[in-house]
Amino acid sequence: MTETILLTGGAGYIGSHTYVALKAAGYEVVILDNFSNAAEDVPDRLELITGGPVQVYKGSVLDRPLLARLFAETQIDAVVHFAARKAVGESVVKPLEYFETNCSGLVGLLQEMDAAGVHRLVFSSSATVYGVPDETPTPETAPHRHINPYGLSKITGELVLDALAKSDPKWAFGILRYFNPAGAHSSTLIGEDPSDIPNNLIPYIAQVAMGQRPVLQVFGNDYPTPDGTGLRDYIHVEDLAEGHVLSLQALLSTGQSHLVNLGTGAGHSVLDMIAAYSKACGRDLPYEIVDRRPGDVPVYCAQVDKAREVLGFEARRDVEAMCASSWAWVQARARGNAY
Ligand code: UFG
Repeated sequence: MTETILLTGGAGYIGSHTYVALKAAGYEVVILDNFSNAAEDVPDRLELITGGPVQVYKGSVLDRPLLARLFAETQIDAVVHFAARKAVGESVVKPLEYFETNCSGLVGLLQEMDAAGVHRLVFSSSATVYGVPDETPTPETAPHRHINPYGLSKITGELVLDALAKSDPKWAFGILRYFNPAGAHSSTLIGEDPSDIPNNLIPYIAQVAMGQRPVLQVFGNDYPTPDGTGLRDYIHVEDLAEGHVLSLQALLSTGQSHLVNLGTGAGHSVLDMIAAYSKACGRDLPYEIVDRRPGDVPVYCAQVDKAREVLGFEARRDVEAMCASSWAWVQARARGNAY
């Protein structure tokens, strides 16, 4: 029997790629999204990629009557929960909005799941739960540390799930700590599409490559890294999406919870990424070194053994593929809806 998966935030960057991966793996998928950080045409694009209708409930994960209706109308087997706020800087200014969406939203969803008899959930966590880690590559056993309200909201989510799993064996959770997602789908029909000034490196470089912004600011070159710029573990969004499929398969087949990092295990500096993107777009992209960004961590890099052992997960795509697919996507996006 085909299992049906609810994707909250399924029209967003990682959610939309996961939709495609889940359909390719044979699941039925229902999306819940309020389109606060996703383009309205994402479902049409997903239809083009997957060749079938896309079922979407438009609304917030905080809308309990909507959740109750969704679970009453569709027999859901498991949930992949992306719907959350994710801008670190904004979380410092508006912490309550982060706790409301990311913490209360999760708790309400779990209550509606319980009422509907659904007890399997994959949770979008983040390397941010390590704060400034003592150890890199960082293992899952590293302690929780928060350096901003966003990080605190993700730690809280993990702790809620841990307590719930301990309260009753009927629950099982896959907690996935993402490192730095990058790149876009090979179809060029979906990718990262920030509606505002991008906070993150790759979408910002993409806008410089497109000529929409004159120069990339490199936030500091005096970190304790080989070239002095911040080091990150960039993971292709299609690899990340496949990690969700493996997590779900493990949850549904074993009923056992797991918590894993999803990264590649390799670190790349800001200058490495500028070089890789310059190669992808065919010109040297302009950048200037400026002060460190407050709150930035020098190095994030995943220890990846546990994901390999528990899920059989291995990232396959490199930074060249991430930059090339991002570049293909932003050009296609700029051509508009002529797809
Ligand atoms: N950077 C620049 N210039 C920019 C943007 C970023 O130099 O315009 C640098 C940063 O200083 C950092 C690196 O590029 O060294 C990556 O920065 P991002 O903003 O792309 O990503 P972060 O690692 O800071 O944060 C991301 C997510 C967080 C998450 C964290 C850890 O945005 O939500 O990864 O997983 F918590």
